[in-house]
This record gives sequence, structure tokens and C-alpha cells, in this order.
Amino acid sequence: MPSDGPILVTGAAGFIGSHLTAALLARGITVVGLDNFDPYYDRSIKQRNAREAGLGSVAPLIEADITDDAALRCVFDQYKPSGVIHLAGKAGVRPSISDPAGYMHTNVTGTARILAHAHRVASSRVVVASSSSVYGNCKVSPFSEDLDVSTPISPYAASKRACELLAHAHVHLTKQPVALLRFFTVFGPRQRPDLAISGFMQRISQGHPIAMFGDGTTARDYTYVDDIVQGILNAYDRAPAHGYRIWNLGNNKPVSLRDMIAAIEQVVGRAAQIDHKPMQPGDVELTCADISRSTRELAYQPRTSFHEGLARQWSWMRSLGN
Ligand SMILES: NC(=O)c1ccc[n+]([C@@H]2O[C@H](COP(=O)([O-])OP(=O)(O)OC[C@H]3O[C@@H](n4cnc5c(N)ncnc54)[C@H](O)[C@@H]3O)[C@@H](O)[C@H]2O)c1
Repeated sequence: MPSDGPILVTGAAGFIGSHLTAALLARGITVVGLDNFDPYYDRSIKQRNAREAGLGSVAPLIEADITDDAALRCVFDQYKPSGVIHLAGKAGVRPSISDPAGYMHTNVTGTARILAHAHRVASSRVVVASSSSVYGNCKVSPFSEDLDVSTPISPYAASKRACELLAHAHVHLTKQPVALLRFFTVFGPRQRPDLAISGFMQRISQGHPIAMFGDGTTARDYTYVDDIVQGILNAYDRAPAHGYRIWNLGNNKPVSLRDMIAAIEQVVGRAAQIDHKPMQPGDVELTCADISRSTRELAYQPRTSFHEGLARQWSWMRSLGN
């Protein structure tokens, strides 16, 4: 029997996880957060995210590693989550190139353990963060969920695709519903400091040069974090009706790197000094989500324009004194 316990959010102290936690709590839903404060970026940033989301005050935050089976056993036994939203993982594309084993361990082994424990305590469903990077350098745009995604070009992308495949086997064997959400470059307040918009805003505002990889024509389907959170909540609600299902959460409006820099210059009110560099291995040329399936099945509708989202991110950065 499914329990009526809290929703377990993994990666709750991270960028997306902290926004999701706040949104769940705002709806009066009981949450347990889990995060290991992975050193990929500064612990103090994650502590601030967690605090702002109400973790450690309104909801508990467990410091644990998703690859630690014994720790997960304790958490799942204690809280018996009614559902799991699994966002924890190693998130960067470029660092995965020098640490493929570490990415596979955290992302794939960690996901396998989360699925196993969710099944063991009869959680009603699991929602798992996947990524637009699974599409690799796909030649067909926009990217629909039915495209062949057997040619990832970074270990990060391969690890996310492996999670999707693992989830398929899990649903086949257990009948526990699992939703896979392919996020397209998420931005907004609390964006990870390694991501381009965050780094560029900081450097341009301080008069430091920024590295532009490639000729500026690569493009990303930037998606505002509140829209992603809405998509996650809708997927959580509808997952049991679908069993195993993949949904894109994107914006369907790619912005080129050159236009992204120009938009940041406008928002920040300062011209960028550009340091031209060659394309980075592992980086894809374009991401562009076909959101017709998520619109139809999840009532997903991104509402925040790129410019509006940038303005909100910049205003948040300024509130921190940047
Ligand atoms: N931000 C994006 O643009 C984007 C795009 C596609 C997919 N995603 C995926 O969405 C999820 C959330 O991304 P984010 O941008 O919020 O990243 P984030 O790094 O801010 O959040 C991930 C959180 O997971 C935690 N974590 C890492 N390893 C862990 C482990 N072994 N055990 C427990 N916790 C662990 C980290 O400490 C971090 O707080 C990730 O799975 C990421 O791959 C993000």
C-alpha cells in the first residue's frame, strides 16, 4: 500500500531542488530534503539555498549521499515517502569528461538505489531529472521525446540516458510509475555558479573578460526555473497515469550565445569584453525542445520570457551584493 508520507526531494539544496522544495511547501505539502552538499560548488551557496527554501526549519534536510545504500535505507525507513522527486546528481557537462566513472557512479548507481528504496517502501511514484543533453548533436530540431538518443557526446549525457534506460527496466519489473524529465538549460535566481548566464553576469558587471566558446552561433533553449518547477509538479501529479514516460521541459525558443551575451549586456548595463575560444569538447551545438507532448499531457506551459527571466536573475544577484 502506498504510504501517505512526505515527498522526498533529492538534491534539495541545489538550484532546482531548492525552488521545487519552496513550491511544494507553499502548497502545504510535507517535504523531506536530502543532499550531500557535493563540493562541485560552494557549500555555503547550497546552505543559503536550503535556508531560503525552508529546509532545516519548515522541513527537514538530511545530509546523505544517494550512493550510500545504508544511509538511504534509514531515510526511507524513517520517512516512508509517498513519492520521490530525484534531482540529486553530478550536473556539469564539461567536468564529466575528466571524471566519467564518478558521474556514472553518482548518477546511475545513485538513481538505481533511489528506485530500489522507493519500490521497497511502496512510494507511489518517482520523478527523475534527465537532461536535454541526451539528444547529443541531434540533426532534427525541435527535439521530440521519440527521437533516437543513442549517441550522447559527453559522459554526463550518457549517465542521464543510462538513468532513463534503468528506469524503463524498473517500471517493467515493478510497475512503479517513473517520470523522466529532460530539462533544457535552466536559469533564474540561485542558478548554479558554473552555468554561463550566472558566470557572465558576474564577470561582465565587474568588467572582467568572458570566454566565448565557438563563434557565438551555438544556441540553448533556456528555460526559467519557475516554469521547470511547474512542469515537475504537473509531472508528479500525473505520473501514475503514465507508468514509464519521458517529457521534455524546455521553452522551444533557442537563444544563440551571441544574443545571450547581448541580452546580458543590456540587463547589466555594461559591455562585455569577449575572449574568443574554440568550441569545447562535449558541448552540443543546439538544444531546442519540442514541448507538444508535455503541453498536451502535463498542461506544461512556459510563461517566462528569456529577457524577463534574465532581469529577475540579475536582480537576485544584485540583492546578494554582486
Ligand atoms: N540546471 C540545468 O540547466 C539542468 C539541465 C538539465 C538537467 N539538470 C539536472 O537537474 C538536476 C538538478 O540540477 P541543478 O542545476 O539544480 O544542480 P545542482 O548541482 O544545483 O543540484 C544538484 C544537487 O545534488 C546534490 N548532489 C550531488 N551529488 C549527490 C549525491 N551523491 N548525493 C546526494 N546529493 C547529491 C548536490 O549537492 C546539489 O545540491 C540534476 O540532476 C541535473 O543533472 C539540470
